Amino acid sequence: MNSLNASFLMSSSSVRGCPDTELPEFAFIGRSNVGKSSLINMLVGRKGLAKTSSSPGKTRLINHFIIGEQWFLVDLPGYGYARLPKTEREHLKKMLEGYLLRRTNLVCTFLLIDSRLEPQRIDIEFMEWMAGSGIPFMLVFTKTDKLSNARLTTNISAYKEKLQESWEELPNLFLTSAETRKGREEILSAIGEMMGPAPSP
Ligand code: GTP
Ligand code: MG
Repeated sequence: MNSLNASFLMSSSSVRGCPDTELPEFAFIGRSNVGKSSLINMLVGRKGLAKTSSSPGKTRLINHFIIGEQWFLVDLPGYGYARLPKTEREHLKKMLEGYLLRRTNLVCTFLLIDSRLEPQRIDIEFMEWMAGSGIPFMLVFTKTDKLSNARLTTNISAYKEKLQESWEELPNLFLTSAETRKGREEILSAIGEMMGPAPSP
């Protein structure tokens, strides 16, 4: 597997503190523990680049990873972690919203969904907020190695049906596993397409 030339650049606690750049960036959002940091590691091909944890609430800042000196992957804190004190939850929510609404070089956000679960209200609400705020996003179903193909098909169909209640057109959708690397090529090609042709040297 060809890994990407990736390195950690910096962590920021607000959109104002994020790197001053016009290079395109792609962010990963979703419930705490859904697998955002693991997906970033899988995409770049380096375990341990983004910090992961089996307990929710690991990522608390906006983390920028620079890829090939050309673009960024951004690891965000999860939303909806009920065990956090309310003040901390509110703080994270403001930080996420500020970032998503005001980061001008943000090309697309990948919203991660646990493929094992039936549609969760918190995720649907987050999608509705993004759509209503004009923030482009695609859906990524995570942890597909944890269920059978039959079950996966059933769950994805249920999700699509749920989304069709609100939207005529479904967002782009990827099935992934950080364990088997399923979905890696598809997501990297989507990113490549969104960035357009590379500048000539
Ligand atoms: P926060 O930073 O706390 O919001 O979580 P996160 O969304 O970044 O999740 P993280 O990547 O830390 O992963 C959470 C747990 O799920 C870890 O124990 C991972 O090993 C596990 N995990 C993530 N993706 C996969 C996957 O595709 N398959 C399996 N089997 N486990 C996964
Ligand atoms: Mg994380």
